[in-house]
Amino acid sequence: MKPLMDTHGRLHRDLRISLTDHCNLRCTYCMPAEGVPWIPKQELLTTEELLRVVGIAVDAGIEEVRLTGGEPLLRPDAVDIVAGISAMESAAGPVEVSMTTNALRLPKLAQPLKEAGLARVNISLDTLDPERFKAMSRRDRFADTMAGIDAADEAGFHPLKVNTVLLRGVNDDEPVRLLHWALERGFELRFIEQMPLDGGHEWKRANMITGAEILEKLRTEFTLTEVPGRGAAPAELFHVDGGPAKVGVIASVTMPFCGACDRLRLTADGQLRSCLFARGETDLRGPLRDNDDPNEIVDLIHSCLAGKKPGHGINEPGFLQPPRPMSAIGG
Ligand code: 5AD
Ligand code: SF4
Repeated sequence: MKPLMDTHGRLHRDLRISLTDHCNLRCTYCMPAEGVPWIPKQELLTTEELLRVVGIAVDAGIEEVRLTGGEPLLRPDAVDIVAGISAMESAAGPVEVSMTTNALRLPKLAQPLKEAGLARVNISLDTLDPERFKAMSRRDRFADTMAGIDAADEAGFHPLKVNTVLLRGVNDDEPVRLLHWALERGFELRFIEQMPLDGGHEWKRANMITGAEILEKLRTEFTLTEVPGRGAAPAELFHVDGGPAKVGVIASVTMPFCGACDRLRLTADGQLRSCLFARGETDLRGPLRDNDDPNEIVDLIHSCLAGKKPGHGINEPGFLQPPRPMSAIGG
């Protein structure tokens, strides 16, 4: 087996899969109010196609799979997909499956997902204020989100990670309050810099709350000490007030971590991407449907990897946002 090594010496172990581009929220930094042009249904990978391609990717060297969206739990077969992938064996042992979700369907699904073998969940929550939640996500679903968080906690997904995006003048006064809440609940909070991946193409650098700003705000109330040994993880972790509690900052734009990236991405319609910001994609759906040759798929995975750039280029002149929005790539 040829290792999943790119031309910049990065070994790839992690596959992020967007299960659907649909979502039951409309977060302003992600989608315009009217949504985005959805992927036609016949182009979505079926359960069988998805499990087949993941199996091939695992044989090629993938050890870890994260399911994302859109909102991954809108796919009716989400639990079956988790069960199917969790049962796979990689060179390093059983494949670890995790999920990034907005929690809305977790009251129903947290327990079945746990039983299907889901290892971890990351929940997106940007505010603790119900009115603000409604303004930011354009849906009045704060209570449902909180119920989903409770369900994940009760199902035993520990440590539960919570992702927050701060927007200038919208919720940038909340990091301290959010961290108090996360500490009380025993959750690991992570702040993500807003990236130029919104469907409405409205990202502006000046509106982004930077990692440095976030740390400055948190340090007005907490003592933060860097946790060493970050590896390929996007989050820079800090012990809060001496630990063991931690908080993370994912400064994708101002402090890119591309040099340690070990991720490949598969869209719901079967396009393999070497980066969130890649402009090209490698079609796996066609070959999956046309023939049954796993070797061809492995070759395509390697050719996608061969085109992987050293970094996302957001800070370079001439940067162009990829044509696909985040909701159709997966975070
Ligand atoms: N920039 C940063 N994070 C984003 N997310 C969605 N869109 C963006 C963006 N433009 C977050 C979601 C979720 C995770 C998958 O990515 O809030 O937590
Ligand atoms: Fe949905 Fe996540 Fe986009 Fe919000 S950020 S609209 S929860 S996909």
